[in-house]
Amino acid sequence: METPWWRHAVCYQIYVRSFADGDGDGIGDLAGIASRLDHLVRLGVDAVWLTPFYRSPQHDHGYDVADPFAVDPLFGDLAAFDALVEQAHRTGLKVLVDVVPNHVSVDHEWFRAALAAGPGSPERDRFHFRPGTAPFNNWNAMFGGPAWTQVEDGEWYLHLFDSTQPDLNWENPDVPAYFEQVLRFWLDRGVDGFRIDVAHALHKVPGLPDEIPGDPDQPQWDRPEVHDVHRSWRRVLDSYDGDRMAVGEAWVFDADALARYLRPDELHQAFNFHWLGTPWSADAFAATIRDSLAALGGGATWVLSNHDVVRHVTRYGDGPAGSARARAATMAMLALPGSAYLYQGEELGLPEVEVAPEHWQDPLAVRTGNPGRDGCRVPLPWSGEAPPYGFGPGSGQPWIPQPTDWAGLSVSAQEADPQSTLAFYRQMLDVRRSFAATAGDHVEVSAEGDVLQMRRGPVRCLVNCGSVPVAVGAGTTLLASSPVVDGLLVPDAAVWLRD
Ligand code: NOJ
Ligand code: MG
Repeated sequence: METPWWRHAVCYQIYVRSFADGDGDGIGDLAGIASRLDHLVRLGVDAVWLTPFYRSPQHDHGYDVADPFAVDPLFGDLAAFDALVEQAHRTGLKVLVDVVPNHVSVDHEWFRAALAAGPGSPERDRFHFRPGTAPFNNWNAMFGGPAWTQVEDGEWYLHLFDSTQPDLNWENPDVPAYFEQVLRFWLDRGVDGFRIDVAHALHKVPGLPDEIPGDPDQPQWDRPEVHDVHRSWRRVLDSYDGDRMAVGEAWVFDADALARYLRPDELHQAFNFHWLGTPWSADAFAATIRDSLAALGGGATWVLSNHDVVRHVTRYGDGPAGSARARAATMAMLALPGSAYLYQGEELGLPEVEVAPEHWQDPLAVRTGNPGRDGCRVPLPWSGEAPPYGFGPGSGQPWIPQPTDWAGLSVSAQEADPQSTLAFYRQMLDVRRSFAATAGDHVEVSAEGDVLQMRRGPVRCLVNCGSVPVAVGAGTTLLASSPVVDGLLVPDAAVWLRD
């Protein structure tokens, strides 16, 4: 059997609102993406994942879907989507889209019908409504406060996220039937697969019992029934031509729990958040790599950043050290078997931005009063000396203000500099292509002192997590994140060598 395209792919996450703005309203859109696709082709990625662009009141910036069969006018229309897929396929890029199955928007026709139909109605049974004078159980919403909101007639509805995102009742047969239609709708339009939002949610323990603090067996996450959903979706994907695939977002506690989502009749991949959460340490990196490969096998993926977490340049300490470590950790992940997910802007070395509270947009920030996820969602700088740095036409400002010192980080500034992060990412992806599919899946990994050592077929990767230079040993240097001089790799750097 031929290796499916996703097996060793590098997939680039486009956070649609912040990638590129085609119409000048300060919000990224499908036309903007189409106008910048050449950036991704030159970068050398294999696929793009588009975050939700469906009709939505945007309370959680698209993860509150009002109509999963329609493009929100903010982003364009179905014709623009079809044109984008066609253009992407012509340039050799695969396209993944998001599916958001745990909840819908309060503006979804089902939720409106549920409110209108009242207590005890079949319309309410598609959600989790409960009577009472207080929240039905002790569950908290991910964005702060109780996971229950009361409606006018006195009933409460469950929402694991924002109150504008009522959870669907996956025990009601309308719900799985609906999502099967959603998948087919986008597959019929030519998408190559899906990123599944909170793939470990959906089903809850019947009766919605209280959560017991400290008990890892939580009533609202990672229930066994969710695997039946993924099996049914796998059958839908398999019924289409080509290697259509699904990658799940499942924040589960260990690699074995994650591996359950990757059984042969379930999802093809799941994001490996253990890698993202691993601190800068040779021992920790080695342990995560070992555990991940053992548990995930052919479904292994690697990811360092996305639209929900602090950018990895900043996680590794910001400034020159943070940037150097970010490059080195990226080299480590790109050396490994499996596929890698890049988040827009990491190829520019963007740090997390401290967004002023008056500009906070993320419901998590607004509801909790703590900085949320806006700092990793700042619109990309493309060119020019000042905001909006070519994000859209004209001088209109983007939906989250960009820092005034980003001119040097813009795509055009970095294109002119062979030492830039962008130039380095292009090189990494180029060199990776020479071994990714052929170096095999077996990896020997060890931590020797502060040095992470990996061997995969003829390729060796070393990451110096310590504070003194180390000898790289034999082999031809394929790429180094900092020049190897006199056979020495400096701290906070990585090298790829070939026998
Ligand atoms: C995970 C998404 O990545 C995040 O952005 C969103 O807020 C939640 N799921 C809720 O859909
Ligand atoms: Mg726009």
